[in-house]
Amino acid sequence: AVRKPLLEHSREELENLFRVNTLAPVELTRMLLPVLPKGSTVVFIISGVAFINVPELPSYCAAKGALHYLAVNLERELEGRGINVVRVYPKQVKTGFFTRNGVPYPKGSIEPAAVAGAILEGIERGRREVFVPGYLKLLKYLPNWPVFTYRFRY
Ligand SMILES: NC(=O)c1ccc[n+]([C@@H]2O[C@H](COP(=O)([O-])OP(=O)(O)OC[C@H]3O[C@@H](n4cnc5c(N)ncnc54)[C@H](OP(=O)(O)O)[C@@H]3O)[C@@H](O)[C@H]2O)c1
Repeated sequence: AVRKPLLEHSREELENLFRVNTLAPVELTRMLLPVLPKGSTVVFIISGVAFINVPELPSYCAAKGALHYLAVNLERELEGRGINVVRVYPKQVKTGFFTRNGVPYPKGSIEPAAVAGAILEGIERGRREVFVPGYLKLLKYLPNWPVFTYRFRY
């Protein structure tokens, strides 16, 4: 993620961010199709920010929002090939996402193992979407306009 206002992003930063977070997951899925047998599951790690705008990460939220829509449509397109798609929406997780930029973990951050466990459970139960923690599912019912805004607390 790029932590600065949108107007301060360079064109290269913006392009790279969308390339990694939005375009690559779709392109990788397409490239792997020839080796994915029926019954395979493709997991898209999206983020709760697909539903909540975090102003300190403006481009990242937009890229994840776009990935959400791409994954929803890929799910329908892959259904006919017998391939499942699981969309995953974690809240803040204690990973290098924060520490590599010298940013502390926001309050309420969860362990990566909790996300991994929820994904495995979601695959086993045939879920189409996995919110981690589960209560994050409430995000889906927020009004779309104005976009709900959340500020990390450190
Ligand atoms: N941490 C959170 O709060 C959180 C919450 C919701 C969703 N997510 C999502 O979870 C996923 C994993 O993130 P994370 O939290 O584990 O963050 P992370 O520790 O920063 O890991 C990101 C991974 O992406 C790789 N990567 C970054 N830029 C790349 C590029 N240009 N080409 C290839 N690989 C690249 C990194 O590779 P290197 O190690 O080689 O740099 C690293 O393995 C991401 O999709 C993130 O958006 C994270």
